[in-house]
Amino acid sequence: QTLNWHPSSAEKQGFRHFMLKEIYEQPTVLRTQLDAYFDPEWYLQTQNPTVGERSRITGSNPPSAPASSPGLVQLNLPQSLYENLEQIQIVACGTSWHAALVGKHLLEQWAGVPTFIQYASEFRYSPPPLTANTLTIGVTQSGETADTLAALEMEQERRKSHHSPAYQPRMLGITNRPESSLGRLIPYIINTHANLEVGVAATKTFSAQVMAFYALALDLADRRKTLKAEAIESIIKKLRELPPLIERLIEEQDDYIGELAHQFNETSDFIFLGRGINFPIALEGALKLKEISYIHAEGYPAGEMKHGPIALLDAKVPVVAIAVPGLLYEKVLSNAQEAKARDARLIGVTPKDSLEAQDIFNEILAIPTVDESLSPLVSVIPLQLLAYHIAALRGLDVDQPRNLAKSVTVE
Ligand code: G6P
Repeated sequence: QTLNWHPSSAEKQGFRHFMLKEIYEQPTVLRTQLDAYFDPEWYLQTQNPTVGERSRITGSNPPSAPASSPGLVQLNLPQSLYENLEQIQIVACGTSWHAALVGKHLLEQWAGVPTFIQYASEFRYSPPPLTANTLTIGVTQSGETADTLAALEMEQERRKSHHSPAYQPRMLGITNRPESSLGRLIPYIINTHANLEVGVAATKTFSAQVMAFYALALDLADRRKTLKAEAIESIIKKLRELPPLIERLIEEQDDYIGELAHQFNETSDFIFLGRGINFPIALEGALKLKEISYIHAEGYPAGEMKHGPIALLDAKVPVVAIAVPGLLYEKVLSNAQEAKARDARLIGVTPKDSLEAQDIFNEILAIPTVDESLSPLVSVIPLQLLAYHIAALRGLDVDQPRNLAKSVTVE
């Protein structure tokens, strides 16, 4: 008997593809980040209050930290980045751009800073007029994407040559590779701690970028006092609860979605709907499917469907709707109803205990109930698995899709 073994399969640790392995690694990455970004000692003490004093909260913050800071966010970014902050602009490409959209939501809703997201390739050639007291953030998992680097370099240069101190560059990078070109260009970096990602379609680095934005938004909200210390503590505790929930979610949904994928053997178009903080996840779900299964897919804010995409709908176009309990839950369900009335096959990314959802959706990719503001980290998982299984079933090269590169170092 011969062994059918290839060296690369060792690194896949028994998984058929790197992408699937990387989907499974997400809870571990998030745990690493939670320990790096938020005081782990404080959390242990909240779980077991008899162990030691809650020293960081009761006044032994380092002298440099603002006096009323709960001192729980440990990004160690200088106050000069945040001083008199009036605006944030973020440049990124591809999946990183989607993570930035989630970040925008958090930075605006939690920290109250108007935030603008730009494709790096657009920003380069039509930069917006300079604004004062602006933080520029570059998001790139590889730290090598040519358009992102060029946009950031240009921004840094034009600000440096401005006479007014309020316009001087304040730059922050979010990357999985602090040693990259981005790390050399920009003085301050948030490391996303996701380790090497081999699959061209980003999965764990996306979740890690989103987690980095949670930490950044909380840090800002803390320093600007737009959230109370108790609210920040409560959010951090809820973030801490996510990794085991995501672990279970992946285990429960993997086989189920693998089976479901058979239904889409003939499918050539998909629509993904989401609203609010889950609109970027609809975009990301559609991008994953395009990238690896070569199926045409569009992500849309659910409320916009009636202004165009609804004309595409019929029994052949499945609609995936992200419906998370919260502010927009009923709205998304009613948008999904509109799609159903056009005979679309409806797939809900939603908690399975809702009778209303069971009534509307043909299939449910069940996610745990979490706060709407934290839900992107759970709602993206079934969409990654859906893209993966549809592509794997079609026998496609999941880890190396045609025409795509892991990092695009040319314009
Ligand atoms: C390429 C990859 C995408 C990635 C994008 C941005 O297109 O195929 O998966 O999202 O580049 O990459 P970056 O390294 O800047 O995040």
